[in-house]
Amino acid sequence: MPLANAKDLLMDAEKGGYAVGAFNCSNMEILQAIVSAAEEMAAPVIVQASQGAVKYAGLEYIAAMVKTAAEMASVPIAVHLDHGTSFEQVIKCIRLGFTSVMFDGSMLPFDENVVKTAEVVKAARAVGVSVEGELGRIGGAEDDVTLGYEKEFFTDPHEAAIFVEKTGVDFLAVAVGTVHGKYKGVPNINFELLAEINRKVGIPLVLHGSSGLPGEDIKKAVSLGVRKVNIDTDLREAFVEGIREALQKHPEEIDPRKILGPAREKVKEAVEEKINYLGCAGTV
Ligand code: G3H
Ligand code: 13P
Ligand code: ZN
Repeated sequence: MPLANAKDLLMDAEKGGYAVGAFNCSNMEILQAIVSAAEEMAAPVIVQASQGAVKYAGLEYIAAMVKTAAEMASVPIAVHLDHGTSFEQVIKCIRLGFTSVMFDGSMLPFDENVVKTAEVVKAARAVGVSVEGELGRIGGAEDDVTLGYEKEFFTDPHEAAIFVEKTGVDFLAVAVGTVHGKYKGVPNINFELLAEINRKVGIPLVLHGSSGLPGEDIKKAVSLGVRKVNIDTDLREAFVEGIREALQKHPEEIDPRKILGPAREKVKEAVEEKINYLGCAGTV
């Protein structure tokens, strides 16, 4: 089927009370793993490109690969720009066929974040592309920036309502205690804050930094309005573990397909495990 629009997937998720997995990918094997897990579980899926993926693979390759994957797939697949850095990058993605983009103005002062995000929404909406905005700052490693887990960076529910109203974003990334990358201690999500944001904001919420979260935390977040769950690190870890295992078993192997093939299987298992917590299995 043709590429799906992430907003449509998240609206269905809202009606059905589940979330859609947004899995990061920067190579063909990880993409194939995501798609075959989604197909096996009859789940919609969002494939997204981080800034690191853009640098590594290039937007053109990612757009073409996900488009091909979607056309061949039996489940709806959207392609999304993760943590978009500029209006120019967003426009480039739209020209390449991305069906959804994030503009991440979370490092900017509130008013500037509003103005820049609203510009992106205006352009994207004109061509039917959905937009994710971010308010508050999510901790951990993101591209070349590492942030601590600081409560003053959590999303303010009142500001979130104003941000959504002024920008017109389709979904909102919130900072409620998750971090990008590996958790140093036990993850500690502020569910009361998430519930309050959900009460104040009438659009689907996005949980970043969802690798390493216990399944129960993901389920609880979904029950409080999270409709898009971003997962990257756990897939990378599964992939590298698969490579290590294959090389340990066959140290003399020189055919990359014999190393990357088993690694792809490991990623597929990791994606299936996540889809189980999201509640979206069997919905398509
Ligand atoms: O935004 C979070 C991503 O997991 C960072 O990924 O290292 O590929 O930019 P990256
Ligand atoms: P993790 O790497 O912690 O899963 O975070 C992914 C993410 O939020 C991508 O935007
Ligand atoms: Zn993120």
